[in-house]
Amino acid sequence: MENKSTDSSGDQTRAAKNGFVIRSFQLADLDQVVSLENVAFAESAYGRFDFMYLLWRARDGFLVAKKEEKLVGYVIATGEGREGLIQSIAVSPEFRRKGIADSLMRSAIGYLAKFEEIYLLVDSNNTAAISLYHKFSFRETGRIRRGYYRNGADAIEMARANRDG
Ligand SMILES: CC(C)(COP(=O)(O)OP(=O)(O)OC[C@H]1O[C@@H](n2cnc3c(N)ncnc32)[C@H](O)[C@@H]1OP(=O)(O)O)[C@@H](O)C(=O)NCCC(=O)NCCS
Repeated sequence: MENKSTDSSGDQTRAAKNGFVIRSFQLADLDQVVSLENVAFAESAYGRFDFMYLLWRARDGFLVAKKEEKLVGYVIATGEGREGLIQSIAVSPEFRRKGIADSLMRSAIGYLAKFEEIYLLVDSNNTAAISLYHKFSFRETGRIRRGYYRNGADAIEMARANRDG
C-alpha cells in the first residue's frame, strides 16, 4: 500500500518552494499560535494554558510552519505506549491550499514513526481535514463520540498503522 507520509519528496519541496519553513515550537511563537487558533477554531479554540500543557506533552512534536516572521500553521503530535496522536493542526485561512498542512502532517508522522498506530479525532463535518487525513492513509475506525465538540458536532476517530512502528 502506498504510504505517502514516508515519501518526503513532493510536498516538502512544494512548501519549501513557497518559502515555508517547518520547525519546533518556541515560546516566542505562543501569541501567534493562540491568534491562529482563535481564527481556526472559534469557540472551541485552545487557550494559552492548553498550549503550555500540550507543549509539555508533545515536546518536539509541537511544530510550527513559518513564512519569514509570520506563523502560518501548527501541528501537535504526542505519543504514549503503542499509540501516537495528532492532537491538533491548523493553518491560517489566507495560507490554506498551499501544502502547509501536508508538510506539517508529514513532519508530525515522521516524529511519531516509532509508534505502531497513530490516532486522531475530527469533526464529522470537517471535510477538508478528513480529506487531509485520508491522504495520509488515516481511515475511520468506526468509533464515534457523539456531541464531542462544543457546537454539538460528533467526533469521528481515524487511525493509521505505521509500518516502522
Ligand atoms: C484542514 C487544514 C489544516 C488544511 O490545511 P491546508 O494547509 O489548507 O491543507 P493543504 O493545502 O496542505 O492540503 C492538503 C490536503 O488536505 C485536503 N484539503 C485541504 N483543504 C481542503 C478543502 N478545503 N477541501 C477539501 N480538501 C482539502 C486535500 O486532500 C489536500 O490535498 P491536495 O492538495 O492534494 O488536494 C485547514 O483547512 C485548517 O486549518 N482548517 C481549520 C482547522 C481544522 O479544521 N483543523 C483540523 C482539526 S481536526
